[in-house]
Amino acid sequence: MDNETLTITDNRTNQTYTVPIYRGSIRAMDLRQIKNGADDFGLMTYDPAFMNTASCQSAITYLDGEKGILRYRGYPIEELAEDCSFLEVAYLLLNGELPTQDELDNWNHEVMRHTMIHENLKKFMDGFHHDAHPMGVLMGSVAALSTFYPDARNISDAKCRRKQVVRLIGKMPTLAAYAYRHRLGLPYIYPDPELCYAKNYMNMLWKRTEPKYVANPVLARALEVLFILHADHEQNCSTSVMRAVGSSHADPYATTAAAIAALWGPLHGGANEEVLRMLDEIGSNDRIPAFIEQVKQGKRKLMGFGHRVYKNYDPRARIIKRVAEEVFQVTGRNPKIDIALELERIALSDEYFIQRKLYPNVDFYSGIIYQAMGFTPDQFTVLFGIPRTVGWLAQWQEMLVDTDKKIARPRQIYIGEDARNFVPLTQRGKRQLVTA
Ligand code: SDX
Repeated sequence: MDNETLTITDNRTNQTYTVPIYRGSIRAMDLRQIKNGADDFGLMTYDPAFMNTASCQSAITYLDGEKGILRYRGYPIEELAEDCSFLEVAYLLLNGELPTQDELDNWNHEVMRHTMIHENLKKFMDGFHHDAHPMGVLMGSVAALSTFYPDARNISDAKCRRKQVVRLIGKMPTLAAYAYRHRLGLPYIYPDPELCYAKNYMNMLWKRTEPKYVANPVLARALEVLFILHADHEQNCSTSVMRAVGSSHADPYATTAAAIAALWGPLHGGANEEVLRMLDEIGSNDRIPAFIEQVKQGKRKLMGFGHRVYKNYDPRARIIKRVAEEVFQVTGRNPKIDIALELERIALSDEYFIQRKLYPNVDFYSGIIYQAMGFTPDQFTVLFGIPRTVGWLAQWQEMLVDTDKKIARPRQIYIGEDARNFVPLTQRGKRQLVTA
């Protein structure tokens, strides 16, 4: 359509400007020409937390927040969760197409051949306190991987990038399992490449003295589905960090460690752990109204609720609720689910939540399943980070080949002091320091 333009009148100068509209957006740099005098820098946009700013163009994941739609490379999440293995979805996210049987067989073989870690990295992990939070161990160990693969810094070489992608996807469950075993003072279990991705992870977590670990197929499938649901989610906080750190051409291990740090935050991936602590604190259904009252007074947040994009039910939460019932058939019902269901029922009928379009997100029910499967709450975000590594890497490699790519370096609106003369130390009077 030829009227895909925006005409702006600057009332300071009565000048008008016409800028092109591109896929529902305008280029912020097109505003720079709008000046109020020769030495004016030109207009910028001010958008803290990027509430209304596209940082990139991406073909990986599509979200419709109003309709609660999530698609990976165009395929609805519901169908992928129903019919695919996790590594099949990983292939789709990274390559843009679902693999043929041969491609999938080769991909499975390649990833499962890169599950071992250097023996020195185990010594590194042994250096953590016994009660070190698994996310801190994971973040530190992934960063340490960059010292074992110095070739990874060659990020301009496609073959080199792919080798690091396979290494990170293969090794993430191993590092996560070793963080868990270290916590319990148990010996590390070597990966078993004959097992699928989830069963191998369970093997390294829970194998004892039996010659070969046999995973419960229902729990293994549930883990694969949960991994699929957590694999990518367009430009969320940790993925934005992956893109920003990657834009400086840091190696993918250091970049992934930064993304892990962002995911750990309780407002992001750390929420699944906080949901369990919240449900423990509430304790029983009769205490839900008092808790909801605290939330409405702004004293607490209903963890696992709300989302920057979804203003409808998070489609992943809907699937996770179904998976929970399947897991409980094996593990027995986790009573926390009844508190969570009642909390959801009450919240979704309360004006405070309805008006703010707050619905359960991916973190609301996932921890209840993880706990039923035997994971401790401080491992829940690790279970988010393992699959999200695929999304981070898919977005990282897309950023590196983007013709628009430049190092991420936002501008600012300066609100500090104007130029002033230096005051020698001997002439500075006593004054109340304004703490930042
Ligand atoms: C993930 O971005 C992604 O895609 C993330 C993710 C992914 O897959 O990568 O989906 C994973 O991080 C899910 C979100 C997990 N976090 C939580 O569950 C923590 C609880 N949720 C909130 O902190 C919050 O909803 C956020 C952080 C998720 C979103 O915050 P926004 O978009 O900045 O919204 P906001 O804080 O400005 O809230 C708008 C209003 C406010 O009320 P008013 O000031 O208008 O009165 O809604 C209220 C907020 O107080 N609100 C909540 C609330 N979330 C928002 N009130 C109570 N409980 C909450 N959980």
